[in-house]
Amino acid sequence: MDVAILPRQRHTDFTLHAEAGDSGLTVIPMRIRFGAAQLDCGGIAGVHTAEGARRRGLARRVIGAALDWMLQQHLAISWLFGIPDFYDQFGFAVTGPEVVTTFRAAGLATLPAAEVQRGTPVVHRAACVDLFTTRDRGSFGGGVRDPATWPWFRRGTRWKGPFGLRMAEAAYALVDEPEVREEGAPLRVGEICGRGAALCGLLGALGREALAAGLGEVAVHAPSGGELGALTRRMGGQVATHWPHSGGPMARIIDWPRCIEQLAPLWAAQPEVRLTLATELGGVRLDGGRAEPTAADPDLRLPQGLLIQGLVGYLGGEDLLADPRTQILRPPAAEALIRLLPRRHPYYWEPDKF
Ligand SMILES: CC(C)(COP(=O)(O)OP(=O)(O)OC[C@H]1O[C@@H](n2cnc3c(N)ncnc32)[C@H](O)[C@@H]1OP(=O)(O)O)[C@@H](O)C(=O)NCCC(=O)NCCS
Repeated sequence: MDVAILPRQRHTDFTLHAEAGDSGLTVIPMRIRFGAAQLDCGGIAGVHTAEGARRRGLARRVIGAALDWMLQQHLAISWLFGIPDFYDQFGFAVTGPEVVTTFRAAGLATLPAAEVQRGTPVVHRAACVDLFTTRDRGSFGGGVRDPATWPWFRRGTRWKGPFGLRMAEAAYALVDEPEVREEGAPLRVGEICGRGAALCGLLGALGREALAAGLGEVAVHAPSGGELGALTRRMGGQVATHWPHSGGPMARIIDWPRCIEQLAPLWAAQPEVRLTLATELGGVRLDGGRAEPTAADPDLRLPQGLLIQGLVGYLGGEDLLADPRTQILRPPAAEALIRLLPRRHPYYWEPDKF
């Protein structure tokens, strides 16, 4: 049976639904930030095979068809949130940790609370998208949202149960509002956005809300760097970082020349790096802040799965050099790689889990 590629209009004009019999998946094209660069990406979601039809190669076929389709669409990268030990065989590598910061509600409640409006994200969607876009400028991992097409913002951040919006003047948070709270569960924040006094005030309000509901903690599913990190240290939060081995946030390069082109701001920031590297998808020559695809003899060779981990900052140049799959063919390449790929703090906002 052939794999059927069905264009769908529900999310964006380009959404693909591929299915073969009892198996299917959806590809959601979106732009994702890599620092100053923005890449056209294909998010893979909803991979499934009916229980009675598993282990017959159906998912392999729909995933293969989706990868081909993304290449035809010139999408630079594909992303997904995996299950352990399944997506590696399709070239995906782990590219992000998962972070939860937990605060004592009583501690947060000592912050001066902002005046907070409660509502549904649908009503304030444009304002939230605007804040998200401004707040996230320059950081890795933020999906670039189009309020007209972003579906999950309406549906919820954690996939189960209802959630609500807390909107202060220049900050917002998406808060889980389950019908029944588990004993001892924290007030769970799926996404928080804001800066400085606005962020402080919103957290103060969330602390009070948790106390009023008899909850001892506020758990924020958001990166622990930047201003939230500073607040965490000030307010005595506890940060739990989970580094998945295989599964969790994963990515792979799809259209390598497109990827090289769209990463231009990253290359331009490293004008002194001279390096030719090759992957199984092709090579790139970096010189004077410019990059171009090349088939020339490389200075080093590594698999695309390892390179994507370096490009997003999940691993640094040193980590890539320590991996036995990296082959240094000309010794100065080692130093160039370390300079090119510093380890950063890649993070996916919870709603970017498509
Ligand atoms: C994961 C899932 C999509 C696999 O579907 P499938 O049609 O059985 O997969 P395939 O038969 O095409 O398997 C492809 C390969 O992956 C392996 N594989 C299948 N299921 C696997 C699993 N759960 N974990 C690890 N490897 C698995 C197979 O052995 C096969 O390898 P092989 O060709 O070397 O034998 C299916 O089990 C499912 O729907 N699970 C529940 C939903 C889910 O978890 N989806 C993932 C959301 S990210």
